[in-house]
Amino acid sequence: MRTQKMMRISLLIFLFIGLLASCGKSEKTNGQKDQGQTIEQPMPKKEIKYDKVDGVAVDLNNKGVGPIQSLSLDPEVDHGLAEQGKDVYDRNCLACHKPDKRLVGPAPKGILERRAPEWIMNMILNPEGMVKEDPVAKQLLMEYNGSPMANQGLTKEEARAVLEYFRTL
Ligand code: HEC
Repeated sequence: MRTQKMMRISLLIFLFIGLLASCGKSEKTNGQKDQGQTIEQPMPKKEIKYDKVDGVAVDLNNKGVGPIQSLSLDPEVDHGLAEQGKDVYDRNCLACHKPDKRLVGPAPKGILERRAPEWIMNMILNPEGMVKEDPVAKQLLMEYNGSPMANQGLTKEEARAVLEYFRTL
């Protein structure tokens, strides 16, 4: 009888110790978690914005690859130049690009809010190089099922006019 009692008591003590130990443990893991969080917090979070049109990363600092290295746009839109650009666009681009609706390629409406002007010019003048080397153009190619943007052989002046037209859309 006595030994049974002793055993019961020691079992209780054993359980109690076990309980304490597990409490201690969970506290420890909490502590470790907290520590982990404080380590993670100061890490700079790279915020990537994705455009609503194609879900492709927006990077206005990306100038792309091609003949255009820098280009600054006058705040005022040159409507004469935009008219010329519309002509070029209607002849060479309309088959695949509707101004405001996705077709074979993306709609250029609002493109200056998602791409740098240099990038747009390089995409028009050097689409082959762009889809090979530029990360955004690569994503676009995937988004459009691997159908590549065709080089329409525009001159720099024509491409610049098209860009001006895009600013009016
Ligand atoms: C044969 C069809 C076709 C023609 C013609 C075409 N494009 Fe494209 N274009 C595409 C496709 C498809 C994409 C997206 C996939 C890619 O980049 O390869 C694209 C992408 C673009 C982009 C990038 C759009 C974005 O939202 O980032 C621009 C800018 C562009 N084209 C301009 C033009 C211009 C300007 C012309 C006319 C001179 C033109 N394209 C003619 C098919 C075409």
